[in-house]
Amino acid sequence: MKVVVGITGGIAAYKVPELVRLLKKAGHEVRCAATEHALEFVTRVTLETVSENPLYCDLFASGHTEHISLKDWGDVLVVAPATANIIGKVASGIADDALSTLLLAFSGKPVIMAPAMNSLMWAHPAVQRNISTLKSWGIRMVGPAEGELACGVSGVGRMAEPEQIAAVICQGEGLMMKGERWLVTAGPTYERIDSVRFIGNYSSGKMGFALAQALADAGAEVELITGPTSLKIDHPRVKVTRIESAREMYAAATEVFPQCNGAILSAAVADYRPSECADHKLKKNGDEGMHLDLVQNPDILATLGRMKKEGQTLVGFALETDNEEANAQRKLEKKNLNYIVLNSLRDKGAGFGVDTNKVTIISRDGSYKESPLMSKQEVARLIINTVTS
Ligand code: C5P
Repeated sequence: MKVVVGITGGIAAYKVPELVRLLKKAGHEVRCAATEHALEFVTRVTLETVSENPLYCDLFASGHTEHISLKDWGDVLVVAPATANIIGKVASGIADDALSTLLLAFSGKPVIMAPAMNSLMWAHPAVQRNISTLKSWGIRMVGPAEGELACGVSGVGRMAEPEQIAAVICQGEGLMMKGERWLVTAGPTYERIDSVRFIGNYSSGKMGFALAQALADAGAEVELITGPTSLKIDHPRVKVTRIESAREMYAAATEVFPQCNGAILSAAVADYRPSECADHKLKKNGDEGMHLDLVQNPDILATLGRMKKEGQTLVGFALETDNEEANAQRKLEKKNLNYIVLNSLRDKGAGFGVDTNKVTIISRDGSYKESPLMSKQEVARLIINTVTS
């Protein structure tokens, strides 16, 4: 995962290099963003050395857009220590320095805070009100704010230990989809003609991989079943099963679906396969030409639609060329889906191979949500937020 660590000006900032070290050790990439006051307690050199990345602390230093590129880069933002000041700023929508600006821009992605302050400040009704506001927006608090306010108990307001904060990030504890299991299919399928040839398609798998990443970042365990692609994903909550043909994808998907809360089928599955696969390279046939006899593949999505139990969510994709919405709606009903994601073919920059996409999410009750052209990561988060809300 890509973790942005935000540091504010509390004495506990001296513990942040240890947090960064633990995150790096667990295989995450880290970039730090600090307030000016944080650098009274921990130095730029230390943070840049442990994170192996430049520090972000000056809103105006790098063309004024660093908060946007860090927002795009990060999968999760953890603020440690979080002072009463930063908590108050976020609760009020104030963006007057690098970190507070980044925090407002980071909406829609997971934010974790580890508050740390004097116990009297901690007990102040304004701070408690701000904490409640941030919690109601889904910001996860680690440490003192997790439990009840124990007024007067010494140690209240102390920052959680780096190990505890790292564990929350690494295990997805408290994240929205913690404890859920989701199936995602991705990529093309290859249907063998002979020992060296196949029928395939141009699907890159990027949309499915982005969906798997976004589900895992939201705390879910993910079963990613993918056809041939060079893409890789390295996340402790994503189990990747690589298959080649539609029938292999069918076997893997039908096996895991009963244990899942939901499934998002973004794979471009071949509808037909050669009826026979030669075990040697087929020879040229000269003027006579070559005829391939094709038979239909099983429809994985329709099968899962029939298997679907109460409480399970099933999401399909559709790529239509005419009467797009009506056809997608029909497919949604026929295959017993909860949602169907209609890929736009009309827009440049959407669909196969590219890094961006533009979709319409249609729900069973007929409501529509149309996305602008966005990165596949952003489309993935939009789909997940829609189908889980
Ligand atoms: O019916 P159509 O192929 O247009 O439906 C597309 C949707 O069905 C996609 O979500 C795709 O992943 C899924 N599909 C499938 N098994 C097939 C064909 C398509 O799961 N054999």
